[in-house]
Amino acid sequence: MTTLWVAYEGVRYPVVVRAGLFQELGRELDALGVDRARPLFVLSDEAVGALYGARVEAALRSAGYAVARYDVPAGERSKSLATLEAVTGAMLRAGIDRRGVLLALGGGVVGDLGGFAAAVYMRGIEYVQLPTTILAHDASVGGKVAVNHPLAKNILGAFYPPLAVLYDVAALRTLPPREVRSGYAELIKHALLSDAAFVAWLHQAAGALLRLDPIVTAEALVRGIAVKAAIVADDPKESRGVRERLNVGHTVAHALEAAEGFGGLLHGEAVAVGLVWETALAVELGRASPALLTEVVRLVRAFGLPATPAEAAAAGLLRRAADAAAWATFMRYDKKNRGRGVRFALLSAPGAVALVDVSPEALTDALAAALRRAEEAARAIPAPEGAVRLAPPHGGPDAAVDGTPLGSGSEPATGRMSTGGSPDAAAGRTPAAGPGSPAGASAERAPAGPVAEEEG
Ligand SMILES: NC(=O)c1ccc[n+]([C@@H]2O[C@H](COP(=O)([O-])OP(=O)(O)OC[C@H]3O[C@@H](n4cnc5c(N)ncnc54)[C@H](O)[C@@H]3O)[C@@H](O)[C@H]2O)c1
Ligand SMILES: [Zn+2]
Repeated sequence: MTTLWVAYEGVRYPVVVRAGLFQELGRELDALGVDRARPLFVLSDEAVGALYGARVEAALRSAGYAVARYDVPAGERSKSLATLEAVTGAMLRAGIDRRGVLLALGGGVVGDLGGFAAAVYMRGIEYVQLPTTILAHDASVGGKVAVNHPLAKNILGAFYPPLAVLYDVAALRTLPPREVRSGYAELIKHALLSDAAFVAWLHQAAGALLRLDPIVTAEALVRGIAVKAAIVADDPKESRGVRERLNVGHTVAHALEAAEGFGGLLHGEAVAVGLVWETALAVELGRASPALLTEVVRLVRAFGLPATPAEAAAAGLLRRAADAAAWATFMRYDKKNRGRGVRFALLSAPGAVALVDVSPEALTDALAAALRRAEEAARAIPAPEGAVRLAPPHGGPDAAVDGTPLGSGSEPATGRMSTGGSPDAAAGRTPAAGPGSPAGASAERAPAGPVAEEEG
């Protein structure tokens, strides 16, 4: 078992990483000081709820807690105001009062939606994150909670830290392969934000991580959490230009997701493309070397993730073959932006990031040139022998490829209350996590580029 503490400005909460945690939730809540008189509300999605909901409810009931559960449809489209309204309606009907505690059981979607519901319900109730995806090692740390607007990702949200994050890594074993690959994109980001040693480790660990080797996976998650926690502690409210570094790859990623109506490629897949494209932009702007771009493409390849929009489209992950200009339109709504420019967090080396504002006049051309460079770099590095191949998304929970019109991400998504009898098909336990080696993140001044800039 590993417990990390996230601590900053009067906030302090544990992130417990352990296999089998869900069975021991009663004891964990007890340790957090949640008394039995407080009503619990488990929020999940329909896939995770079917797998783990009954087990979590049973563990809590057997410890003497009163529990209600509500499952929203799985997928990014549940991060919407319409779903928030459905969730808070279910909370009201379940009699959740101000003493209530929400437990967000699921990946980053349920974590972001549940955290935001907790933040606004009766002006704020406490909540606990119960992450079930690899990607949630990122999403559950740092207290950022949000839903999407059809025009912009995560644009309606709050800084609202949880009471605790209780990460049962045994639950990862049921993740569909596409979600496993997607989840590692944020870990690639954390390695790149950390240092060359983490990047090198990630390269050699890729095979074990994709097989979900329990020891190596737990170590990777703990290392990633440590990188994120250090950056958050340095700038909890994103007011000092430090935390924005976590947005490496995300200006592009969020635009791709919004352009897809939050229903096409997965967040991690968008981040993989974003890391490559934005590193190519850094090279274009004279801020990074082509060798760094090669490194990023190799990392993305090692985890079977798409390196470019064309690769994502060829694998059936991207529904709309838009052009750089169309994506640039969505980038203008990015919440990092100040004034008219579009802000990117650009790497110049592992551990070295600067915030760079690109003017609207320069944006389209700069992005198009960077995309050409990214595609060239991707062509030069074929997938290594034996590497995971990009697979079409058949069968994945987000796999539906329909003709939904642009910007339909906030269509009402209706959920359902638990009947208390859903199947619990969770996989077996995995060995306990080994201790990680927290890697600090640093930022150095990158060389000046031909655009306005603000250093992180
Ligand atoms: N708040 C933050 O700081 C932060 C950071 C990074 C990402 N995010 C957000 O996180 C979201 C992505 O999170 P995600 O990738 O976890 O997506 P997700 O929550 O949609 O989960 C991915 C899919 O896997 C299924 N699933 C989850 N756990 C499972 C399990 N154990 N077994 C089987 N299936 C399982 C879910 O039903 C879903 O279909 C995005 O909205 C992103 O913006 C937030
Ligand atoms: Zn992300």
